[in-house]
Amino acid sequence: MQRGEHLYAGKAKSVYLTDSPNLLIMHFRNDTSAFDGEKVAQLDRKGMVNNKFSAFIMQKLEAQGIKTHFEKLLTDDESVVKKLDMIPVECVVRNIATGSLCKRLGVEDGIDLEPPVFEFFLKDDARHDPMVNEYHIRAFGWATDQEVEFMKATTFKVNDVLWQLFKEHDMLLVDFKLEYGRYDGELLLGDEFTPDGCRIWDVATREKLDKDRFRRNLGGVVEAYEEVAHRIGVPLD
Ligand code: ADP
Ligand code: TMP
Ligand code: ASP
Repeated sequence: MQRGEHLYAGKAKSVYLTDSPNLLIMHFRNDTSAFDGEKVAQLDRKGMVNNKFSAFIMQKLEAQGIKTHFEKLLTDDESVVKKLDMIPVECVVRNIATGSLCKRLGVEDGIDLEPPVFEFFLKDDARHDPMVNEYHIRAFGWATDQEVEFMKATTFKVNDVLWQLFKEHDMLLVDFKLEYGRYDGELLLGDEFTPDGCRIWDVATREKLDKDRFRRNLGGVVEAYEEVAHRIGVPLD
């Protein structure tokens, strides 16, 4: 399969049409961005690591009955995915308080959240992805009530599967962000699941193994992603 017309470039991935109208090629670039595009860098190998990481996780989720856009790995840093009509909200689940939750509410960093917290954010970098609720989503027609319920239930199911996966390999899945899109009358999990869009801590040391290393200038960003990949068994070469 060959790249067709360039459809759009996000901050870390580029999306291309293909010869099949229902499929896209998703190119994971080395570009790394944080704070809604304010801080950017090129990190060697990141595109390859994230492409294979996301493919591995999507297949794990499929095996647990969660439908995703993933079709197949195409090259080291490209995958074939189903072309979705994306819903412009981000679904976040938090198992441990950190990041924007602590800034917003002044709660202590690192405390367990039981039960986990669910939040919706509007996908709008220019407005710094403001938090929204189900009433905003309904009033502005971003998704139907049924879709909202589906996204919440599916994101919690993803949390159950992945909390367990990371726990088995001595890591804590602190929080993560998912995006969904419409395909042939149903919603599928789209976009990616990589250390760019989640937080993962070592269970013993609480060392950060995710994009917070980049946000906070801790160094060893891609090395940490590779460490996580290695622990959970993502084949990187
Ligand atoms: P961002 O938009 O956050 O900068 P990326 O660099 O990751 O993100 O760009 C990927 C873009 O592709 C995002 O806008 C995302 O919503 C979109 N996307 C992800 N999966 C699909 C899909 N299966 N079909 C269509 N668009 C998708
Ligand atoms: P936050 O603490 O900045 O709100 O982020 C919560 C989690 O969601 C964290 O793992 C990062 C992820 N996330 C993104 O990847 N992109 C986003 O635009 C947002 C709002 C969160
Ligand atoms: N808002 C998220 C961050 O600060 C995602 C992004 O901007 O790429 O990392």
